[in-house]
Amino acid sequence: MARRAGVAGIREAARILAGGGLVAFPTETVYGLGADAGNRDAVRRVFRAKGRPAGHPLIVHAPDAGAAFAVGEADARARALAERFWPGPLTLVLPLRAGAAVAPEATGGRGTVAVRVPAHPVARALLEAAGFPLAGPSANPHGRLSPTLAAHVREDLGDAVDLVLDGGPAAVGLESTIVELAAGPPALLRAGGIPVEDVERAAGPLRRPGPDEEARAPGMLRRHYAPRTPLRLGAEAPEPGEAFLAFGGVPAGAAGPARDLSPRRDLAEAAANLFRMLRELDGAGAARIAVAPVPAEGLGLAINDRLERAARGAAPPAAGAGG
Ligand code: TXA
Ligand code: MG
Repeated sequence: MARRAGVAGIREAARILAGGGLVAFPTETVYGLGADAGNRDAVRRVFRAKGRPAGHPLIVHAPDAGAAFAVGEADARARALAERFWPGPLTLVLPLRAGAAVAPEATGGRGTVAVRVPAHPVARALLEAAGFPLAGPSANPHGRLSPTLAAHVREDLGDAVDLVLDGGPAAVGLESTIVELAAGPPALLRAGGIPVEDVERAAGPLRRPGPDEEARAPGMLRRHYAPRTPLRLGAEAPEPGEAFLAFGGVPAGAAGPARDLSPRRDLAEAAANLFRMLRELDGAGAARIAVAPVPAEGLGLAINDRLERAARGAAPPAAGAGG
């Protein structure tokens, strides 16, 4: 079910997708669960495989900006952001083009569509080989940690996926930054793999919808990305019984299981390690995971966003949370 993403693997994956099957594929952010975006049955299977409530729209992946803008309508701002950041971890929410080959399930029946051109060479090769855009949420069960290794997908989704393409560890490790360019001033719907400051340098200030507007990005509810073990954030050191997720060194005397997001306090390294290390500590049998403070700037903004959601979500996900 899992194979190295060589030429033969990509050809087989494209064949499975054309037949309405599901293929998990590597992107630079996290692994995605791909289906033909225009095939309603295939898109419905994605929702079933993830246990994702209907109405939480999916990101549509395209091989280049031309193909992405055949699905979503680009204005000058969208074209400028695409020019600057694609291929890469930026998703644009745009008005859905009339007649675009996207199943209504993939857009939640809204008048908008989220599009992204991924940078990972395997994702690009797959999109080229398939010849149609892929609906692709993160390849994790609803509400749980996103996968950054092919092995995570196999553990989490098992036989619900027809094929897992193994492209190695995801280099960015956080989902894409989502910017809405559909109505009114550009809005940041999700901090992610491109630092918000970088996007704002190109797009001007982004509006940050408040918690009362969470319905703007369905699926981005308060609780998300949850390990099973409760988290304690902003911890300088672990207490007895706690595992420790450090940033910039594990304190001497920490007795329990520990990981260091980045010994040299590098936020890109920390982002790449975040979900894998949380999974590892989640499996370590500690009563709680204490997490060191991470600076809230650049990629640290997205890291803190995921940690805060994870801290709220350790209990079984409530209806409507996660994605
Ligand atoms: O990096 C990523 O973005 C990964 C990789 C696989 O590309 N994908 C990903 O997809 O994180 P997913 O489904 O886990 O998150 C997509 C989020 C949804 O939670 C939703 O908030 C937002 O994108 N979204 C999708 N379509 C939207 C729309 N039309 N309007 C507003 N938000 C939308
Ligand atoms: Mg997700």
